[in-house]
Amino acid sequence: MKTDLSQQRVNYDTIAHLYDEPIRDHAVDENLAQFLAARPSYHPLLVLDMGCGTGKQLAANRPHFPGAVMVGMDLFAGMLRQAQRRGQGVCWVQADNIAAPFAGGSFHYITNQFSYPHVQNKLRFFAETVRLLKPDGRFVLTNIDPWSMPGWAIYRYFPAAWALDEQDFLPVDRLVVMLEQAGYGRVTFSHRHLAAPTSLADFQAYASARHRTSQFIAMADADYAAGLAAIERDRQQWGDTAVIESEVCLLTIICEKGLY
Ligand SMILES: C[S@@+](CC[C@H](N)C(=O)[O-])C[C@H]1O[C@@H](n2cnc3c(N)ncnc32)[C@H](O)[C@@H]1O
Repeated sequence: MKTDLSQQRVNYDTIAHLYDEPIRDHAVDENLAQFLAARPSYHPLLVLDMGCGTGKQLAANRPHFPGAVMVGMDLFAGMLRQAQRRGQGVCWVQADNIAAPFAGGSFHYITNQFSYPHVQNKLRFFAETVRLLKPDGRFVLTNIDPWSMPGWAIYRYFPAAWALDEQDFLPVDRLVVMLEQAGYGRVTFSHRHLAAPTSLADFQAYASARHRTSQFIAMADADYAAGLAAIERDRQQWGDTAVIESEVCLLTIICEKGLY
């Protein structure tokens, strides 16, 4: 099955060379450490990151889990080319999250980070993670939760960003129901709210680079230009040192295939 890339929210091949900025760095995956702490006998531990992008998560994990087999999968070859440069000891595979080229029961632990909104058939994707996991496996999904962060400065200045996100992200209660429908035995979630005042000048600099968020890339040129113009108007009115409020809410969903 060939994926129609023109239907994707973002063509990551066009920005793969710009993607790796320090704001996107990943620390070692604490959820994986917790999973393994309760299962020290897994040798080798088999880990899959679906929608791995430039591979930062697996590269951060690699030194901490020396015996593990790690596989990073992504739809876009450009992202995987960046991943290959950094990821010694990780196997990188190009495939769509709804059709992974692995046998059922191949992995103990699967992650999906900042990627599920890009997948149109989410139920099929989640069912695919269930298929790929071993009977006592775990899937951990991480993303922002747009439904819990109405004060994000990007939504204030770029209303088109919210219009896109309410289509592509699900409210957490619907996500949980869908994950259960896909076949998970137990699904739990947690939120982490981060609210920080930001200087308007810093926000303007951030927003002026369009590759910074998928919202900027996916919205129409006119909507992006209107948002930048609104920021510039406020900066002219309030001055360079003005501070604006913003918030982000991070969502983590932990899905157990079995009822453990
Ligand atoms: C915002 S990036 C996140 C990358 C990485 N997980 C991270 O946290 O840095 C979203 C990633 O999802 C990938 N992606 C989008 N749709 C996909 C699909 N249907 N199957 C696999 N990967 C997909 C993109 O190529 C991109 O690398």
